[in-house]
Amino acid sequence: YTVNWDVEAAEKGGYDHFMLKEIFEQPKAVKDTLSPRLNKQNDIRLDDITLTKEDLDNINRVYIVACGTAYHAGLLGKNLIQKYVNVPVIAEVGSEFRYNDPFIDNKTLMIIVSQSGETADTLAALRMAKEKGARTLAVTNVVGSTISREADDVFYTWAGPEIAVASTKAYTTQLVSMALISLDMANKKGTISNSMYHDLIDELRDTPAKIDKILDTSDEIKKLAEEIYNKDHIFYIGRGIDHDVAREGSLKLKEISYIHSEAMPAGELKHGTIALIEDGTPVIALATQDKLYDKTVSNIKEVSARGAKVIALSMLKNKEIDQSADRVIYIPNIIDDLAPIVSVVPLQILAYHVATLKGADVDKPRNLAKSVTVE
Ligand code: G6P
Repeated sequence: YTVNWDVEAAEKGGYDHFMLKEIFEQPKAVKDTLSPRLNKQNDIRLDDITLTKEDLDNINRVYIVACGTAYHAGLLGKNLIQKYVNVPVIAEVGSEFRYNDPFIDNKTLMIIVSQSGETADTLAALRMAKEKGARTLAVTNVVGSTISREADDVFYTWAGPEIAVASTKAYTTQLVSMALISLDMANKKGTISNSMYHDLIDELRDTPAKIDKILDTSDEIKKLAEEIYNKDHIFYIGRGIDHDVAREGSLKLKEISYIHSEAMPAGELKHGTIALIEDGTPVIALATQDKLYDKTVSNIKEVSARGAKVIALSMLKNKEIDQSADRVIYIPNIIDDLAPIVSVVPLQILAYHVATLKGADVDKPRNLAKSVTVE
């Protein structure tokens, strides 16, 4: 009699893959990142960050540098800091930053985002920024990582270990971190109204429950995956922060399913990429942003008219979007600025199901590494 003792299966906790397990861990990961930073009065307390109001008043430019999924999280940070802190933000990928003559001096805040805290290009960007006198803040998931040791301040995402190469829970916790950091900066500087600040915090608190609701629909999303997994090209479109999430959704899909995919700003599509839309080409269209909703719906009609099979992603309140799209993924209503924390989840699940239907090695996609320590 032998016991088939499979350590890896045990670590997967009943899930077929680490990626799926980590997708389902997101409500907890988000809560763990959020709760320790909120006090009983619902104020943000970032004990880990030593930036004072005086430091913040001295800052006239912010850089956000990261690679891959972490960069996509940084794009939300750019949006929120510009809107609420009223400071210009430049977001760049690590491999480009040093070669683009960055404007760095002692009035610059450099925010580095890195799950592993070891990515070579991101680390090199941090070192360059420090050398030029910037104040540096790292957002990372690994305690004691090189980036965490070298940055002036460290904000930890408490996502727990992420094993799958395709990042999921690290991303959602990075988004939450971007929100906490920008709201705290805005509150300290007095550039956000008290009511807006607290509304956003309340909305943040509701995100784990909203993610849970989406996880419950995994089987429905699988049905959509069955409709598209044999396609050669899949496009993602969106405007504003929907475009940032579209980029992440597209990256998830291509990295694990090997289907060619691009994300485009919805309004830019007509300047070239729309030529690739044929009868039945799937287009995943994100339309969660109120101020951009009508414009995105026109873009949905534009691609539909060229034969695209449109899967729209919108909030429950936009029920009527089902008249313009072939399929709709609804997410719970949430304030626009924080929508990415919820809207990325169905895209992760879709990518996962497409990849498993294709029989791909979801947790270890070809040619990719979890941590990239070469430039
Ligand atoms: C690799 C991983 C990605 C990750 C990127 C940045 O490419 O496969 O999932 O987003 O590196 O990694 P970091 O650890 O710096 O967030």
